[in-house]
Amino acid sequence: MVRQDIKIYPDPVLKKNSEEVKKVDDNTLALIKDMLEIMKEAGGIGLAAPQLGISKRIIVLSLKEKSFDRLALIDPVIEFFSKETVFMEEGCLSLPEINAKVERSLKVIVKGITRSGRLVEINAENLLARVLQHEIDHLNGVLFIDRLGSQEKKGVENDLEALYKRYSALTH
Ligand code: CO
Repeated sequence: MVRQDIKIYPDPVLKKNSEEVKKVDDNTLALIKDMLEIMKEAGGIGLAAPQLGISKRIIVLSLKEKSFDRLALIDPVIEFFSKETVFMEEGCLSLPEINAKVERSLKVIVKGITRSGRLVEINAENLLARVLQHEIDHLNGVLFIDRLGSQEKKGVENDLEALYKRYSALTH
């Protein structure tokens, strides 16, 4: 699999609400394997199935911390958002070369199913909490650019316009 498999803004699949997986079968496992491979190849630390054009509630992450290296979560749900928020610069494999500061909860608690079918609860903070929020947003058709303040939004306008033009040229 190669980088081109990643859907780029404004591909409409990125705006879709994804469906629950419920059952971890061979197809799910094969998809997770592809997702991990593509994420690694693209140098990302997180990837959601809709970014490959598949509207299923699956995310993968790869953080340095051992238990979160190559972690896949099926049907993840954020059960708790801390009131305390932080701004941090984000990027997205579906928004190449665009970065902006996004405000998100410092801590979250996420429930989800692992590849082995085990229900887990993750108490996340800092970068892990951020990646989980970013990836789970993808499952709801939300991109980080949808969460920018007006100032930050202005800063990425031209880059978004360029992606829009590129997409139109590719699809017409
Ligand atoms: Co993303």
